[in-house]
Amino acid sequence: MSKFIIQGQAKLSGEIEVKGAKNAALKIIPAAILSREKITIYNMPNIEDTDRALELMEELGAEIKRTNATVEIQIKELSKNGISEKTSGKFRASIMFAAPILARAGEVKFPHPGGCVLGAATRPIDLFLDGFRAMGAEVKEKEDHYHIKAKKLNGCEYFFTTVTVTGTEAMMMAAILAEGNTVLKNCAMEPEIPVLAEYLNRQGARIIGAGTPTIKIEGVKEIKAGKFNIIPDRIETGTFAILAAATKSEIKITNCNPSHIESLLSIFTKQGIKFETGEDWLRIMPPKNITPYNIKTHEYPGFPTDLQSPYTVLATQANGSSLIHETIYERRLLFTDMLAQMGADIIMCDPHRVVINGPSKLYGRKLTSPDLRAGITMIIAALIAEGETEIDNIYQIDRGYEDIDGRLRALGADIKRIGTLL
Ligand code: EPU
Repeated sequence: MSKFIIQGQAKLSGEIEVKGAKNAALKIIPAAILSREKITIYNMPNIEDTDRALELMEELGAEIKRTNATVEIQIKELSKNGISEKTSGKFRASIMFAAPILARAGEVKFPHPGGCVLGAATRPIDLFLDGFRAMGAEVKEKEDHYHIKAKKLNGCEYFFTTVTVTGTEAMMMAAILAEGNTVLKNCAMEPEIPVLAEYLNRQGARIIGAGTPTIKIEGVKEIKAGKFNIIPDRIETGTFAILAAATKSEIKITNCNPSHIESLLSIFTKQGIKFETGEDWLRIMPPKNITPYNIKTHEYPGFPTDLQSPYTVLATQANGSSLIHETIYERRLLFTDMLAQMGADIIMCDPHRVVINGPSKLYGRKLTSPDLRAGITMIIAALIAEGETEIDNIYQIDRGYEDIDGRLRALGADIKRIGTLL
């Protein structure tokens, strides 16, 4: 197994490029199942999660051609309607395959999707199942898998009782080839959703309102070939911005869309962290003093849960106390234990809230990455810390950040990858 060895406190500066958005790629790949024609995807991030998604497409009968960041996918015939335990266990986004397989084959079988520690029992799929039922599907919950059948899906009116990103995208995909009209209410509004809708519309789908709480879809018989340019990863953008501020470095972040992290940048302004933005770049200036600020995670355009863990490291470097309130996931503050081991002053109030008293000096430690976002957070903490940090289980980091060590070394970081791949 590979690990990262990081010597902290190296001076960082320069430019870092943002790659294509993982959470856009993981929807656009299975969306290719909805058409028999060729789909070309540009700016595909080269990460473990997209590799798993493309492997799953091959298992389903897709022909795939990959040249650098461009991937062509065509699935003339769907060779099976099931998702294997082996693939599904590795990444939660395998749930995104259920709706397009169901829409195209009239049937789908899949086990409970896995992934990181956040992917276990704490990440239910009840709203997907409920949504499919609302479209007329028969859902059987067996001991070790789900079996969903619908000769044809029917348009419906569906209200999401909890705002869910993948749930919104799954229902949007299911409704494209359904008979009649669908109205989805209380939808998620993350930027990956309207870009998925615009792309599917270019293929012939009829979706309006994506990016607002109400999405209307008029079912069509088929959708055609398509080309899709994956938007820059807004979580990478925010993570690199936090990395720059927390290590007090001047870093220019390129190939990004700063408007997608407005919540973070508004907070930076309140914290005295200066930055400049262009249409597709963002430069963070080294802050002298970081004013503490309380954050509460929220659905888009609020503060993203995926930036909560990196932000928590920034809070350890602020002058005073910050309250971090995680509202989306139960287990996303457990990693703060590792920050405490590194020397951070952290009080866990309850599973959803921690208070961080800064500034703290951090020290290198031996750590294990529990999930993707906590993993990148360990790297940021290690770059601030005095001494050496060893981070194990870096598959979790490679799931979502392409060549993270290479890109950080280019900024001056002392980070080495050792050991073999899984
Ligand atoms: N929920 C249910 N039932 C469901 C689905 C979700 O109760 O059937 C609940 C969840 O338990 C959670 C809340 O709804 O409390 C919101 O979760 P959501 O469904 O929005 O999360 P997701 O769609 O599974 C996506 C991203 C996550 C990101 C969240 C929130 C993808 C592949 N994943 O997950 O990304 O944290 O939205 O923005 O798009 C990551 O990239 O590290 C990551 C975890």
